[in-house]
Amino acid sequence: MSIRILGTGHYVPEKILTNFDLEKMVDTTDEWIVSRTGIRERHIADAGTATSDLAAAAGRAALESANLTPKDIDLVVVSTLTPDMPTPSTSTIVQRKLGIPPCMCFDIAAACTGLLYGIDVVHAMLAAHQRKCALLIGADKLSGVTNWTDRSTCVLFGDGASALVICRDNEKDDDFYIASEISADGNDADFLKIPGFGSACPASAEGIAQHLNTITMNGPKTYQKAVTAMSSSCKRVLEKTGVSASQLRWAIPHQANDRIISAVAERLGISDNIYRSVARYGNTSSASIGICLDELNKNGKLHRGDLILTAAFGAGLTWAAQLLRW
Ligand SMILES: CC(C)(COP(=O)(O)OP(=O)(O)OC[C@H]1O[C@@H](n2cnc3c(N)ncnc32)[C@H](O)[C@@H]1OP(=O)(O)O)[C@@H](O)C(=O)NCCC(=O)NCCS
Repeated sequence: MSIRILGTGHYVPEKILTNFDLEKMVDTTDEWIVSRTGIRERHIADAGTATSDLAAAAGRAALESANLTPKDIDLVVVSTLTPDMPTPSTSTIVQRKLGIPPCMCFDIAAACTGLLYGIDVVHAMLAAHQRKCALLIGADKLSGVTNWTDRSTCVLFGDGASALVICRDNEKDDDFYIASEISADGNDADFLKIPGFGSACPASAEGIAQHLNTITMNGPKTYQKAVTAMSSSCKRVLEKTGVSASQLRWAIPHQANDRIISAVAERLGISDNIYRSVARYGNTSSASIGICLDELNKNGKLHRGDLILTAAFGAGLTWAAQLLRW
C-alpha cells in the first residue's frame, strides 16, 4: 500500500501589512520586530473574508496540483483556531465551497501544531482503509483574533491557508509518512490562549472592551517551551528512525519566529536546508508548514525520496515532529 502527498497548495490574502505600517499603529519599530522575530511583513484578509475562503482557495490549488477533482475527495479535514463559526465545522463549509460530494468532514483544534496533527490522523485513517483521498487544510485568519493595540502580539501574526491532497494507492508500495512524535501538555495552556468567547467566558460587551476575544501570550515562556519541545521531539524522531540530520533534504519548522527556528536548528546540528518563510508571512498558525511545503514543491525543490523533517508548536500547549519522505 502507498500513501502519498499528491498535491499541495496555499493561499494568502493580497493585502500586505509591513512593519512600517505597524510603526504607525503601535509603539514599535521595524528594527525591533526584525531583530526579535525575523518578520518583515504579513498578509491580512479583509473583514468580509472568512477562514473557509482562505481554506477553499488553498484546497482548490492543491486539487489542481494533484490533477484531481472535488469528486475524488472522500475526507476533508481542516485545522484551524479561527473557525468561521462554532458550528458547523469549517471543514463542511469548505466542502460546500469546493463542491466536494458528501463525505466525512471535521475540524482539528491543535493551534499551530494542527497541520501535523492532521497529517497523523489522515494518514492513520487512510492506512486503515477507511478513506481513499483526503484534503487536509491548515487555515487561519489570525487578524480577526489579534489585539491590534498590543504591540507584544500584533506584530507576530498573519493570515493564510495551505492544503495537502493525501491519497492511498493499493497497487504501490511506498509511504510518505515515516515517523512522528506528537504531544500536548494542558498544564501550560495559559501561556498562549484566547480567553473568551467560548463556553467558559461567553461573549459580552465587557469582554470585547477587555480584548478577551484576542490572543494573549507570555512571550518569553512560550519561546522557551517552543525551543525545547520542538528540538526534543525532532531528536526523538531522528533517533528512533536512525536518520541523521545530514540526511535531511529539508527541515521545515513552524514559522513563528526566526530566532526559535535558529535555536531549534542549532540544537539539532542542522545548518543548511532549513526552510524559512516567516519574514514574508509572519506566524500563520496552522497554515505555516503547508505554505513552506507548497513553495518548495512549486519551485521544484522537492524530489521523490527526499527526507523532510517537520516540527511545530502551538497553543495547548501542543507540539509535534514528523519525518516524511517526499
Ligand atoms: C514575543 C517575543 C518576540 C518578545 O521578545 P522578547 O525578547 O522575549 O521580549 P520581551 O517580551 O521580554 O520584551 C522585551 C521588551 O520589548 C518590549 N516589546 C514587546 N513588544 C514590542 C514591540 N513590538 N516593539 C517594541 N518593543 C516591544 C516589551 O514591552 C519589553 O519592554 P520592557 O523591557 O521595557 O518591559 C518573544 O518572546 C517570542 O518570540 N516569543 C514566542 C512567540 C511565539 O512565537 N508565539 C507563537 C508560538 S506558536
